[in-house]
Amino acid sequence: TNIFLVGAPMDSGKKRQGCRMGPDAYRVAGLAEALTELGHEVHDLGDVAPDVVDLPEHEHLVSLPDCVGWTHALTRVAQEAAGKGMPIFMGGDHALSMGSVAGMAAHAKAQGRPLFVLWLDAHSDFHTPQSTASGNLHGTPVAYFTGQDGFDDFPAPSALVEIEHVGMMGLRSVDPAEHAALADQHAMLVDMRAIDEHGIKAPLVAFLEKVRAANGMLHVSLDVDFLDPSVAPAVGTTVPGGATEREGHLVMELLCDSGLVTSLDLVELNPFLDERGRTAKLMVDLTASLMGRRIFDRPTRSF
Ligand code: ARG
Ligand code: MN
Ligand code: MN
Ligand code: MN
Repeated sequence: TNIFLVGAPMDSGKKRQGCRMGPDAYRVAGLAEALTELGHEVHDLGDVAPDVVDLPEHEHLVSLPDCVGWTHALTRVAQEAAGKGMPIFMGGDHALSMGSVAGMAAHAKAQGRPLFVLWLDAHSDFHTPQSTASGNLHGTPVAYFTGQDGFDDFPAPSALVEIEHVGMMGLRSVDPAEHAALADQHAMLVDMRAIDEHGIKAPLVAFLEKVRAANGMLHVSLDVDFLDPSVAPAVGTTVPGGATEREGHLVMELLCDSGLVTSLDLVELNPFLDERGRTAKLMVDLTASLMGRRIFDRPTRSF
């Protein structure tokens, strides 16, 4: 696969700073080398900068003008990179997905295919600029790219993602307003209880079957806090009770086997909070599993 690494050192989606160091942490942790070793052709496009927009700061929303500028820039870059190969967005906080997903949705539309989004996250990130109590726009991207009301300051996406084409896995922190908004919609919601009861494979396979049946393209958005903080501490919004390292790898391996993934976000890594690079390294290893690293081919001999 022709892989395009896009550095998105976006730190504007929330108050706590540090995610801007994410792209370089992935470079230092050897992301490009790991993918090259798997036989891919890897191009690092360097870091994107936000467009400059003429918008005043908002009294409640954190860094609104910067977030709008990033969305413009990343939508454009995502669409360009998708035309050449598989983009991997090295974040940066989760507000970058407003741009990465909007760009991928535009690309998919031009191909006449629907875009599906797998949101691997403790949070649903389904706030609108009106409903967010924190004012942190990294809590809003799914509402943005599915076309919920209230994003008037942002570019209107040229293609939306249907809410029925969104699958969320790993949920364990959903605010009341998000809960209410999701109740009227048909996203596939897989919370931690569902993962405990059914394992992580069954709901993922069900989602992938929908993608395949629709001849869809699939964007995967991996928030560090999908994982349990005991294995992935380098994130500002840790929530206990997350996916294990092994569940993370299994998701990535099943996604690899599906052959459906066309783009990936790596978001919310805050290297300032890491322990000797372990979270950055785990994210690199998970990406390697997604892109073909395996212990043995399947099926293995029976046992
Ligand atoms: N729901 C909370 C909020 O709106 C947390 C959002 C966390 N989002 C994230 N991308 N880490 O502030
Ligand atoms: Mn998130
Ligand atoms: Mn999260
Ligand atoms: Mn459909």
